[in-house]
Amino acid sequence: MQHSEGTNPALDDSYIYVCPSSELEEDDLIECEIGTETIVVGRGEGNVYAAQGICTHAYSELVDGELDGTCLTCPLHFACFDIRDGSVLEGPAETPLRIYKAIEADGSVWVSNERG
Ligand code: FES
Repeated sequence: MQHSEGTNPALDDSYIYVCPSSELEEDDLIECEIGTETIVVGRGEGNVYAAQGICTHAYSELVDGELDGTCLTCPLHFACFDIRDGSVLEGPAETPLRIYKAIEADGSVWVSNERG
């Protein structure tokens, strides 16, 4: 990645490369790591979003769940989260997901270690 001054957030050192944009189709989920944090990245309604990758209810990797539009369903007990803001749409989870900044730039998907 080239580093230079500019307004493109992909040039910000806080962003890490996830995958080519073409590999993340509508309702797809992919997992990546930022430091020790597991992150789930998804494309919902055309936009890319990133959230903590482990459910807040118990231990379950959300990448194994389903994304339907902006509703992310946990594979274990089927809690639903809004991947845009992490809010709980349906239990049994009660705690929202942490959200991270995700963007597309230069034909790729990027996620920031800064909270969204
Ligand atoms: S572990 Fe996700 S709903 Fe229970």
